[in-house]
Amino acid sequence: MLSHGCNNLIRKDIKALAAYHVPDSSGMIKLDAMENPFPLPDKLKASWLKRLGEVGLNRYPDADMHNLRKKIAAKDGLSADQLLLGNGSDEIIQMLLMAADAGACVSPAPTFVMYDLISRWLKRPVSTVPLEADFSLDSDKFLQLCAREKASIAFLACPNNPTGNMWSESSIRRIATGFRGLLIIDEAYLPFADRTHTDMIAPNVLILRTYSKLGWAGLRLGYLLGDVKTISELNKVRLPYNINSLTQASADFFLDHFDLFEKQAKEICGERERVGKALSAIDGIELFPSQANFLLLRIKNSDEVFEQLKQRNILIKNMNSHGGLLKNCLRITIGSREENGALLSALKEILA
Ligand SMILES: Cc1ncc(COP(=O)(O)O)c(C=O)c1O
Repeated sequence: MLSHGCNNLIRKDIKALAAYHVPDSSGMIKLDAMENPFPLPDKLKASWLKRLGEVGLNRYPDADMHNLRKKIAAKDGLSADQLLLGNGSDEIIQMLLMAADAGACVSPAPTFVMYDLISRWLKRPVSTVPLEADFSLDSDKFLQLCAREKASIAFLACPNNPTGNMWSESSIRRIATGFRGLLIIDEAYLPFADRTHTDMIAPNVLILRTYSKLGWAGLRLGYLLGDVKTISELNKVRLPYNINSLTQASADFFLDHFDLFEKQAKEICGERERVGKALSAIDGIELFPSQANFLLLRIKNSDEVFEQLKQRNILIKNMNSHGGLLKNCLRITIGSREENGALLSALKEILA
């Protein structure tokens, strides 16, 4: 038998990476991952389970998913051929980075980590434009960096994660018309935001969405909207059967009950305003505007505040180790009214 030194089995740059870490949250109030806090109503749950019982697990899933794509695309007045489905929008980010022409991937900093991480997996150079102190984006700087780095792909999360803000429509439009590579406008937080960018779709401009934040994080379903030709090219790097049968059946079912999830999103926006006001009134907290289902705040001794919340069984996301603009920042997902109440009481107690 040939003996490989185990040092040679895996690429050096992969060995240097850390795996994506998801902290253990059992038994905790979970305000760290932008999930919807509401359980399914019992009656709806019973009909959904009945529907799942009709799925034949002995067969591969529907590979083409024409009807599901048609149903989703119709909500934006688009056709099935303008939509690509992914196992979460993470998988679509991976497809985009696999298929885009050679060249750098450009994004603002800070932003959603997977643009950078997946680029590195695929040995694609990455380059970032630092956001301004108020988290605004300078579109001239962005376009200049894209030109200098010969970027072939760029991501703009609108609203941005982890900052929560929405960049001005004029700066997004300037980038959409000025950049020649693939531009992905990531609308993961659209259910909580006040505008979409679907009117900017062009052969090189695509809109990325997910159902994770709306309430179906466990299904892992995201989609990309774009020009028919670009979508059909990207579809070539989609793994066969990437959306499992249970997810397909569930999405088809829940799309018929979409108003419930939209109502919940509105409720979360209301809670975001209430929690935001209460946090702003606490001495020592600097709160940033958000159009997402989370709030970012800056506070002295963020590590200690994070740990003390954890001791009280409340899990949020500590952004401090990212440094730069995120130094001393904490990201808090908006939960149910009770969960938010527990968070506010705990924070007041810790900071008293
Ligand atoms: C901006 C943004 N895009 C995409 C995703 C990935 O979502 P999913 O893979 O669950 O669809 C996230 C998740 O946090 C996000 O914040």
